[in-house]
Formats: sequence, structure tokens, C-alpha cells
Amino acid sequence: MNDHEVGEYWNRNAPAWTTLVRAGYDVYRDLLNTPAFFAWLPPVAGLAGLDIGCGEGYNTRLLARQGAHVTALDIAPVFVEAAQQAETAEPLDIRYLVGSAAALPFAAETFDFATSFMCLMDVPDPALALRETFRVLRPDGFLQFSISHPCFTTPHRQNLRDAQGRPYAVEVGGYFDYQHGQPEEWIFGAAPFREQARHAPFRVPVFNLTLSQWVAAVVAAGFVLEGLQEPCPTDEQLAAHPFLRKARVVPYFLHLRCRKSGLPQV
Ligand SMILES: C[S@@+](CC[C@H](N)C(=O)[O-])C[C@H]1O[C@@H](n2cnc3c(N)ncnc32)[C@H](O)[C@@H]1O
Repeated sequence: MNDHEVGEYWNRNAPAWTTLVRAGYDVYRDLLNTPAFFAWLPPVAGLAGLDIGCGEGYNTRLLARQGAHVTALDIAPVFVEAAQQAETAEPLDIRYLVGSAAALPFAAETFDFATSFMCLMDVPDPALALRETFRVLRPDGFLQFSISHPCFTTPHRQNLRDAQGRPYAVEVGGYFDYQHGQPEEWIFGAAPFREQARHAPFRVPVFNLTLSQWVAAVVAAGFVLEGLQEPCPTDEQLAAHPFLRKARVVPYFLHLRCRKSGLPQV
């Protein structure tokens, strides 16, 4: 499966996805993943940034509100149209375009930084996407990206619950069994059933790299890996949103920050 075939899946998912996330049902993104990502992000005010796989633009708008000059791209035209509509309604000076992470339509050294929120695990060749990102960054520029945690988003995954129904462990398996685009079906569980029933489930092609393959791809692209982060709900977040407890049993997300060192490559 190539990146454009994957894009057709996402284009079909886009109308329901946009409706449901704008209604607030992507609760793990809104309450855990995105706040942790932005808390870790270096200052971006005044910098030229690229957001790769922007979807309907939720995180792109947050970047722009931090004062960055943002260009954002997505492979699914329906998502880009939805993002552009939000930009027209509330201009944040974001430039949206349709394009693929596998062939970024920009000259070398165009951006000071790049972000990618929960996209790169959805592309068939993330190593190529990382090389492309490296190319369009200026020396000393950085890429910060989030993905589903590779150690716990495995072909077999089952939440285990105690006698009171509380999640206490996750059974994982098939970690090394690579899936090249087998579609997985799901929908936001936080949406009420009547909302879920209005939409066909999303179909998302899966490409599951191991943790060491992710790190190898980052390094092979030429980046220096600056750090990893695994968002974990705080006590305050758990008190306010008890359903986040599952994300304390094991991490759902992995964040990586890597830099295009200004020093000559050896
Ligand atoms: C899980 S959604 C995340 C959307 C958005 N970043 C967010 O955080 O709300 C994954 C996104 O990656 C996009 N995508 C998948 N493959 C892509 C590719 N090769 N190039 C650019 N975008 C891609 C999809 O269309 C979709 O919008």
C-alpha cells in the first residue's frame, strides 16, 4: 500500500472524524496527548513551522496561537478543506495545502521547525517521511512528533480489568509482526452510542514499527534524537477525568524530539 492509497482511507474517514473531534470526542488527544506535547515543545513564537498530517487543523491552530508562522499539509483533501474553512472563519495566518509527508512540496531548508501529531505511524514509509522532514528543516531546526506508543499498540492488545472493573494491565503480543497497511476499524469511544451509530467506523491502515525501528529511522535521516516523552495523566487530570486511568497503566502515546544539527554531518 502506498501513501496515496492510505490517503484515500483518511479522506473517507475525514467527514466523520471532523464532526466527532470538533464535538470534543477525541478526549485522549484533547486532555492528555496535546497538552503534554505543547508543554514539551520549545518556544516557537516568530518561527516558521510545518505541521505534517494536520487533519482538520486542531493542533495546527494551537501552534499558530503560540505565535508560529505555520504551513500545514495533509494527504486527505477533505481534511484540508475542513481546516481551511476554520481558517476562513477565524484567520490565524495558516497556509494549508494537500500533500504527502513522503514528498514534501518545499525547497530544502524552508522551516525552523516541524511538528507532526499522530500521523507518522500512519504512513507506509516513515523513514522516507523523516528524511523529507530533515531536508526541509534549516540547520539547527527541530522536529517534534507524536505517534501511538509502538510498545503497546501491537497486533494483539487487550486491556485487563480487576474484579471492580478497573484497568490494571495490558496484554500485548505480536510486537515484531509487521503489518503493512491492514486496516483497523474503530471510532471514538467517548462519543455517545447514538453519535457513534450515525457514522461508519474509521478504517485506518496500520504500519507497526518497533521502538528500535523508529529510533533507527530518526538517526538514519540525519537527526540527533533530543528526547522521548510518554504522556501520563497527572493526579489532577485523573481526578477531573477518571477515564484517563487506562493511560496510566501503560503509555498510549510516544513523543520524540529530534534536531537537524548545524554541525557538518560526518
Ligand atoms: C490520526 S490523524 C491526526 C490528525 C491531526 N494531526 C490531529 O492531531 O488531529 C492522521 C492524519 O495523518 C494524515 N496522513 C496520513 N498519511 C499522510 C501522508 N503520507 N502525508 C500527510 N498526511 C498524512 C491523515 O490524512 C490524517 O489527517
